[in-house]
Amino acid sequence: MRKLLSAMIATGFAFAAQPALAEPIVVKFSHVVAENTPKGQGALLFQKAVAERLGGKVKVEVYPNSQLFGDAKEMEALLLGDVHIIAPSLSKFSKYTKKLQVFDLPFMFDDINAVDRFQTSKAGRDLLDSMKSKGLKGLGYWHNGMKQMSANKPLRKPEDAAGLKFRIQFSEVLQAQFEALKANPVPLAFAEVYQALQTGVVDGQENTWSNIYSKKFHEVQKYITESNHGALDYLLVTNAEFWDKLPADVRKELETILADVTAKVNTMAEELNQRDRQKIAESGKTEIIKLSKDDLAAWRKTMAPVWKKFESEIGADIIAAASAANS
Ligand code: LMR
Repeated sequence: MRKLLSAMIATGFAFAAQPALAEPIVVKFSHVVAENTPKGQGALLFQKAVAERLGGKVKVEVYPNSQLFGDAKEMEALLLGDVHIIAPSLSKFSKYTKKLQVFDLPFMFDDINAVDRFQTSKAGRDLLDSMKSKGLKGLGYWHNGMKQMSANKPLRKPEDAAGLKFRIQFSEVLQAQFEALKANPVPLAFAEVYQALQTGVVDGQENTWSNIYSKKFHEVQKYITESNHGALDYLLVTNAEFWDKLPADVRKELETILADVTAKVNTMAEELNQRDRQKIAESGKTEIIKLSKDDLAAWRKTMAPVWKKFESEIGADIIAAASAANS
C-alpha cells in the first residue's frame, strides 16, 4: 500500500485528484498617456477596485505610456484579443465609425460640462454602440479636457498659425481644422510628439493641460494659447466577443465598477487639468496666452467651415444634439 501511495505521489496522481484552483481572468488595459493624468488615474482606480471587489477572479494589468501598444497598434491589438480594454481619444475611431467625429469639431462644446451633458444624453449614449458591427463595445466616456494650442511663436489670431506644421491625432476633422487655418497638419502617434516638437519636425500641437504637462511639451514650446477650441475625451472600449464571453456575474460586477470609476474620473479630470495648467504657468518655461473676446471670435469663424464639411458623415441630428448640450 505504501508503495502504491508513493508511486501515486511520484506520478502526480494524488495532486491531480485535488480540485484545481481556477486562474484569475486577466484583463489587460493599455493606454498611451502618463499615470498622473485623468486616464492614467482612471486605469489605476479600475485596477484597485477590481482587486478589492473581484480579487481572485479577475486581475487587471495596466500598461501606461504606450508601453505595450501605441496609438497605431492598440485598436488592432484589441480586436485580436492581445489587450482587453483601451481608452483611445474620441479622435481615433474614424476607421470604425464616422459619428464620433462630432467630438473633434472645433468649438463644438463651450466647456467640459457641455461635453458631459452630451455624452450622458440619449444621443451621446447611443454612440457607445456605434461600432458594434466592427466587434467593438463602448463601455463609457472618460473625460480629459479641453485642448489648448501651442507653438514656438505666439498664436493670438488665426492668421498666426498659417504656414506652421502642427502635430495632429489621426483624424480627418483635425486635419481640416488646421487646413482652415492655412497650417500644415502632421499626423503622429502620441508617443512621438515630444521629440517631434524638440527637433522641429513640427512647430506646434494641440492638447490638454494634463497631457502637455505630463509629457513636458511646455518645455519645448514657447507659447501656449488658452484656446479651449476642442475637446479631448476618451471612449473606454473593449472587444465585444471577449466581454460577452465573460461569466455573467463577473461582467456585471465589472460594469458596476466601471460606472463608479467613470464617475470618479469625470469628476476629477477638470481639477487635474487646472492643477497642471498652474504647474505649467509656474514653470516659467512657456508663456500662456489668453485670447480677447474678439480674437476668440476670429478663431471660431476661421474654423467654422469644418462643421459643414463633415456634416453628412457625422449626421446633422448628432451635431444638433451636441450643440444643444451647450445651453
Ligand atoms: C493624443 O494623441 O494627443 C491623445 O489622444 C493622447 C491621449 O490619449 O490623451
